[in-house]
Amino acid sequence: MPLITLPSGETVPALGQGTWTMGDAAKRRKEEVTALRLGMDLGMTLIDTAEMYASGGAEEVVGEAVAGRRDEAFIVSKVMPGNASRRGTVAACEKSLKRLKTDRIDLYLLHWPGSSPIAETVDAFTTLKRAGKIRHWGVSNFDVGEMEEVVEIPDGKDVATNQVMYNLRRRGIEFDLIPWCERRRIPIMAYSPLDQGKLLRSRELEGVAARHKIMPAQVALAWLLLQEGVMVIPKAGSEAHVRENHGALAVRLDARDLAELDRAFPPPAKKKPLAST
Ligand SMILES: NC(=O)c1ccc[n+]([C@@H]2O[C@H](COP(=O)([O-])OP(=O)(O)OC[C@H]3O[C@@H](n4cnc5c(N)ncnc54)[C@H](OP(=O)(O)O)[C@@H]3O)[C@@H](O)[C@H]2O)c1
Repeated sequence: MPLITLPSGETVPALGQGTWTMGDAAKRRKEEVTALRLGMDLGMTLIDTAEMYASGGAEEVVGEAVAGRRDEAFIVSKVMPGNASRRGTVAACEKSLKRLKTDRIDLYLLHWPGSSPIAETVDAFTTLKRAGKIRHWGVSNFDVGEMEEVVEIPDGKDVATNQVMYNLRRRGIEFDLIPWCERRRIPIMAYSPLDQGKLLRSRELEGVAARHKIMPAQVALAWLLLQEGVMVIPKAGSEAHVRENHGALAVRLDARDLAELDRAFPPPAKKKPLAST
């Protein structure tokens, strides 16, 4: 498993697992827990969730998946902007900890910029960190200007990641956000790496996949895994998809593949608004 180094020096797996829509339907719960546990067996121990997903239901699924093996997992969760005041953040974190059935969240993110001053949220993150309730904090859906604001706050230099939408079809951040983060050694966490499955219907992706006798999802993930300082968190609700996604680690895209993908999904030539779901 390739590793990504957080600004603290701690390393995490470059390929993790997402959980959006998990916990939505009771009949899928067992399969979701099994999928996450298989992913952990395969080394995809970074698990991304949020208080928002299934109104806390996804955190409960994660809690069940990590039961009895909490120390193997690196749990990422998120506070919604509406809860991100100084007191609200602490209260939201306590609730997440209960649903996750754990005593700490490894990385706690602000889900997207909201109306609470970011300095207040960061202050709450620092309080939670001192209390051992979270180990690291970061942000999500922050563009360059918002990141500038974060690092200007006294404790802002501790920001561990920015989780943003990034996949072959959404490459806008390569223009400015990725270089900005690279200069500060802040890793990016790429969400919707399969463009929520929509990317998999691309003819060009299918062409590269056919040449390697692999699946389009593996091409999409292998391409992201080639990007420096990027963690990738596909969501897979079945064991078959988890195994397939894990298989991306063994894929070696060559110069011809990369040129074809660049032609089909060109890198940005100018600033683009941050993509989001
Ligand atoms: N910070 C944010 O604002 C934000 C926003 C969106 C997402 N996220 C995080 O990022 C994670 C990933 O993003 P996402 O869930 O939006 O989309 P995604 O990972 O790009 O795509 C998930 C979809 O792809 C399917 N899939 C997974 N593996 C597959 C495979 N090997 N072959 C074919 N289909 C496959 C899944 O189906 P099955 O479920 O049937 O496997 C699901 O429908 C989320 O779960 C969440 O944790 C964060």
